[in-house]
Order: sequence, then C-alpha cells, then structure tokens
Amino acid sequence: MLKQQILQIKTSAISKIEATENDSDLFNVEKKYLGKKGELTAILKQLKDLSGEERKSAGILANVTKNEIIEALKSKKAEMQRGRFDFQKEKIDVTIPGKKIKHGHLHPITIVQKEIEDIFTALGFEIADGPEVETEFYNFDALNMPKNHPARDAWDTFWLKPTNNRQQKTNNRSGKLLLRTHTSPVQVRYMQKNKPPFRIIAPGKCFRNEATDSTHEHTFYQFEALMVGDAINVGNFKYIGEQFFSRFFQKDIRIRLRPSFFPFTEPSFEFDISCTVCGGQGCRSCKNTGWLEVGGAGMVNQNVFVASGYPRNIYQGFAWGFGLERLAMMKYKIDEIRLFHGGDLRFIRQF
Ligand code: DAH
Repeated sequence: MLKQQILQIKTSAISKIEATENDSDLFNVEKKYLGKKGELTAILKQLKDLSGEERKSAGILANVTKNEIIEALKSKKAEMQRGRFDFQKEKIDVTIPGKKIKHGHLHPITIVQKEIEDIFTALGFEIADGPEVETEFYNFDALNMPKNHPARDAWDTFWLKPTNNRQQKTNNRSGKLLLRTHTSPVQVRYMQKNKPPFRIIAPGKCFRNEATDSTHEHTFYQFEALMVGDAINVGNFKYIGEQFFSRFFQKDIRIRLRPSFFPFTEPSFEFDISCTVCGGQGCRSCKNTGWLEVGGAGMVNQNVFVASGYPRNIYQGFAWGFGLERLAMMKYKIDEIRLFHGGDLRFIRQF
C-alpha cells in the first residue's frame, strides 16, 4: 500500500519537475513533495509506525525516491541555469558600434617598387636580384673601379670584417665584403649568367656610410636598368626612359641628358625629367628650371662587359640607376627621405 503510494509520488513528482518552466513552479513542486508538509515527507514520518520488515523495505524505497527527486530537481535547476546563460551569451546588442579590423598594407617603397616592376615587365624587362652583402669585386672592380682608384671615394662604403673561414675565403678570392653601395653589381652578376640580348631591372636596398639629411639616408633603395644587345643605343634609352616616367607619373614626361662621369659607363649622363609639377614651365619644385634630376645613366663601359666575361666591342647597351625613394618623394610630394624608414606609423598609414 505504502510502496504503491511512494511509487505514485515518484512518477508524478518527476513528471511535474520535467514540465516546469520557471523557478517558482520548480520551488512549488519541491515544496509539494519534499517540503515540511510535503507528500513524501509525510510518508517518511509514517515509517516509524510500521512493523520491522515493512518499515525497512518501505524506508529504503522512500529514501531512494527522495534522492531521485532531489537529483531531478538539481538537474532541472542546472538546465534552467544553462538556458539563462546561453541567452545571455547569444544576446546581440545591435546598437554597439562594430569593431574595426585594422588592415595592414604595403609600405610606400614597396608600392612604388611594384609599380616600377609592373611598368618594366610590360615593356618586356625581366626582374633581376643580387645580394645586399656584396664583394669588393662586384661592387667596384668589375664596374671598372680597381683597388685604390679614387673613383671609389664617390661611394662611402660600409666595409665588413670577415668573421668565419668561409667569409675569409671569399675575402681572399673576391676582395673584402661590404654592404652594396648601389645596385650596379647586379649588372655584372646577371651578365655572367646570361647571354645578350636582354633587358632587366634590379630593384633593391643599398647602403652608404654617410650623414643623413632630408634627401640622404644610410639605407635606401635603388633600381638599376640594363639593356644589352648588338645595337642598343642612346635613342633606345631615351625612349624607354620617356615611356617609363610617363607611365609612372601618368602624364607626358620629357627626358634631358647631361654629360657626366661614371666609371662603368662611357659616355655617361645625368638624367633629368621635365618637372612633374609644372610640366617644364618653371616652378618652385624645379627651382624654375623646368627639369628635375632623377639619376645617373650611360652606355655600358666595355671594361664592364670584359669583367663579366664578354668579348670587347661586340655588345653594347645602356644602364641606369635611380633612387627609389626619390621617385616616391616626387610622386607623393614628400620632402623628407628619413620618413620612409623612421617607423612613424602616422606617416606609413597615409598610404
Ligand atoms: N650606381 C650609380 C650610383 O649609385 C648610379 C648609376 C649611374 C647606375 C650610371 C648606372 C649608371 O647604371 O649607368 O651612384
């Protein structure tokens, strides 16, 4: 009889617990069965009136049932808690401003370098590369500047001390190691491995041991151009130059060559372009001359061909070397070269 009652209490308690949907209902269910005047509590109280054997078995059943109800209450509470928690988590406040993801972007030097590469590849040029730590041979000797030649003084050089056997061996074979002072050594490296005709550019980092100011840095970028064949001439050079600068500045640019001297070219030129601001009329940017100086160039000296392993007077071609920062400064109207490598994000983020 009593056992029957206990089992009924159990079924109805469990199903009620399962059906509850809020705290106060659950509290009421708990009270109804386990409270002071609860149904199961009443039964537990009656146990003492029973005879030995019956008291024992009904007692066990009643206590097990009590525990099961307590467990069911607990897990229901936990379930309701979780529900609340999920709700909190998934709540979306559509009025909160979005989080901005900061995108990185290319450095202005890289942007300009890529533009230059695009223009030259469209003109059929290949992109060549060489090491930043160079040997004396490639940086000077092969470019027609033998040891102790005063022409070397034009490049304030960072010389490197050999620190291991391998470097010492290179040192003995190709002269001391240094940080390349220009991209011209790439001319020789490329010519040693390739046969004319070819046209290349070689953009890259260069280093000079000199005091910095608004137009000079110890670390900077140049790009070299080299076009060699049987009959490449100054006319080809002027045309390529005009094409390149007109495309780079997206306006018609004229070229002016002035006689100059570089050991690795003969004849050599300083190379001006018509002012990108006034178009040649004369303005503050070009100091009223109508022209802007951009770099050095010339017809490759035959001694450079010979140093690269070619016979003398068989090939001819032009070469030039420009400062990449200078072009970037002209394009973006920047008046301080040190901004490029200064690490100031306020500058970099403008590109
Ligand atoms: N290498 C020279 C420099 O850094 C620039 C230069 C001048 C490169 C004339 C050339 C050239 O290829 O023909 O000052």
